[in-house]
Amino acid sequence: MSKTILITGASSGFGLLLANNLHRNGFNVIGTSRNPEKIQAAVPFKVLALDITDENSIREFTKQLFETTNQLDVLVNNAGYMLTGLAEETSTEEAKLQFETNFWGTVNITKALLPYFRKQKFGQIITISSMMGLVSLPMKPIYAASKHALEGYFKSLRFEVSQFNIKVSMVQPMWAKTNLSANMIAIDEDIADYKSYKEQVNKYIKNSMAEGDDPSIIVNKIVDVINAKTPKFKNIVGKMAGMVLFLNNYAYTKFEGAIHKSVKKIK
Ligand SMILES: NC(=O)c1ccc[n+]([C@@H]2O[C@H](COP(=O)([O-])OP(=O)(O)OC[C@H]3O[C@@H](n4cnc5c(N)ncnc54)[C@H](OP(=O)(O)O)[C@@H]3O)[C@@H](O)[C@H]2O)c1
Repeated sequence: MSKTILITGASSGFGLLLANNLHRNGFNVIGTSRNPEKIQAAVPFKVLALDITDENSIREFTKQLFETTNQLDVLVNNAGYMLTGLAEETSTEEAKLQFETNFWGTVNITKALLPYFRKQKFGQIITISSMMGLVSLPMKPIYAASKHALEGYFKSLRFEVSQFNIKVSMVQPMWAKTNLSANMIAIDEDIADYKSYKEQVNKYIKNSMAEGDDPSIIVNKIVDVINAKTPKFKNIVGKMAGMVLFLNNYAYTKFEGAIHKSVKKIK
């Protein structure tokens, strides 16, 4: 029997591409969106309503999921968004909202499905983190923190559930061309002292995102993790991902210097 794969945030970007790819390849795909009615007619896979920040929505979704299918093999935690803004300019309220989706939302949907995986004594949980779960950049302190937090959580979970044959992996993409930048939430409090630095960093990040990877590269990596016999925990993917991680791990001063230099170079 073909595997049943649940993908959160399947209305756009990686989630949509992954869902279409897996459906084409014979997997039974279930996607989620906060507004399934907007996309259901346009996609060949089933889309269920889910807002990962809302406990009632998670409860209702889980009920509906097991009315739709009696089998679940893989959960892909993909839903998320990017908050951008300097640390000092970011309100605690906006920062908490970022964590509500990227961290707590992901943790809560995972917890809702873990009892099912545990009882069936197999399953796979793949979480789309980011290279910013491993490294950090200016203007992304809260986004990077939310992804670093996920790395810590799932590293611990991987130990705990391996006894039930539940495989836990992360995928850490570099920048890729999706709707992430269009759906990005930007803080604009404007502390004058940061003005020119902020303009430089914004341009640097905009340029980096414009030169980002084709999202199909990231989707192929996720498919590889789904098909792997013994999936690794860390799965970095994208142009320069290996180099960035190497510098971050073994030559951090060089990594910092390269970012400072690239930002300064922007006209
Ligand atoms: N693109 C990149 O460069 C990049 C790099 C590294 C990591 N990532 C990560 O990859 C994941 C997917 O991003 P993407 O680039 O594909 O962005 P995207 O095109 O903006 O898609 C984001 C998806 O998340 C869903 N979503 C957002 N908030 C949600 C919530 N509260 N509850 C349920 N679903 C929610 C959206 O669904 P609805 O609006 O329909 O509910 C949408 O389908 C994110 O976790 C992101 O952090 C992206």
